Amino acid sequence: MDLPDLEAEAKSKIDATFYDYIAGGAEDERTLTDNEAAWSRFRLRPKVLRDVRSIDTTTTVLGARISSPVAVAPMAMQHRASETGPVATARASAATGALFCMGLFGAGSAKAVAAVPDDAPRWLQVYVLADRERSVAAIARSADQGYGAVMLTVDVARQGNRRRDARNRWTFQQSDGQVEDPNELFDHALTFDDIHWFSERSPIPLVVKGVMRGDDANACIDAGAAGIVVSNHGGRQLDGALATADALSEVVDSVAGRAEVYVDGGIRRGQHVVKALALGAQAVFVGRPVMWGLIAADQKGVEGVLRGFQNEVERVMALCGVREVSEIDASLLAPRAQDFA
Ligand SMILES: Cc1cc2nc3c(=O)[nH]c(=O)nc-3n(C[C@H](O)[C@H](O)[C@H](O)COP(=O)(O)O)c2cc1C
Repeated sequence: MDLPDLEAEAKSKIDATFYDYIAGGAEDERTLTDNEAAWSRFRLRPKVLRDVRSIDTTTTVLGARISSPVAVAPMAMQHRASETGPVATARASAATGALFCMGLFGAGSAKAVAAVPDDAPRWLQVYVLADRERSVAAIARSADQGYGAVMLTVDVARQGNRRRDARNRWTFQQSDGQVEDPNELFDHALTFDDIHWFSERSPIPLVVKGVMRGDDANACIDAGAAGIVVSNHGGRQLDGALATADALSEVVDSVAGRAEVYVDGGIRRGQHVVKALALGAQAVFVGRPVMWGLIAADQKGVEGVLRGFQNEVERVMALCGVREVSEIDASLLAPRAQDFA
């Protein structure tokens, strides 16, 4: 798997404005950069002599089986990345047994994606819009469309200050061609009471995305959340926020098994995945690499990225002396690993 090469290939196929929208982050992009760097600050303590002829990378999310702990993060604008848009991503996820989280916002039709047969679970990401009924309607349809969980993204109290987009005069065009101002679109009054309100109305489990602290994670779980995604939106919202790799442990410890905890942000290698699981994540989500695969080669490109991650996870597990995902634990991490920075 050569993600820098794939990104370069994708970059050559799209205009600079769209490339910046995908690749970029908020303000000085410190959090964007730190997300990836933080995974590398941890060091693994591999085990040897464990008979690793056969490695099983399968695991579960909310009780549903997936082929590996690597899932596809929700992303807008997939309809602009390829003609088939999120349908291609859904097909690639189905072909590789990966969990795909469909980003509803401006990404194409949730219905078309729902029509793609898939043995692996599929989730639907929803924003709480100022026009709340649109979000409620999407959630109400989700179960019938075969989605297994709703992922509610809560880190958009304001649109992040994305300087590349401002410079490029990037406009947010939905799949129906409508241009919208995200700052006017989202509900900025959200509280934990709204998590409770949505969890009561959702026919399927609610996962809250964009939580960076243990106290917030627990308040979401008290309000009905079945899962928490530790995420800073890929460094696209609050620059200066800590890296998700550095936030994960505190959230996992605070949640203490009351709900599943997932993480995303800067995961680019199988070893990053294994480190995230050793820190207590149930699974990880990958964003930009999937978009590069989609732009470079449609369904095949996304499949390549997902298989690349799965192969790397398999190899890292073997080199760490663990045969099953459940054997990945904190003992695989070196203490005081941040000293290696
Ligand atoms: C182009 C792009 C569009 C995104 N759109 C959404 C979205 O619509 N909803 C959402 O919750 N997160 C969205 N995200 C954030 C991703 O779900 C995820 O948190 C982030 O990309 C993970 O970091 P990574 O790209 O470093 O893997 C988007 C990210 C990118 C790069």
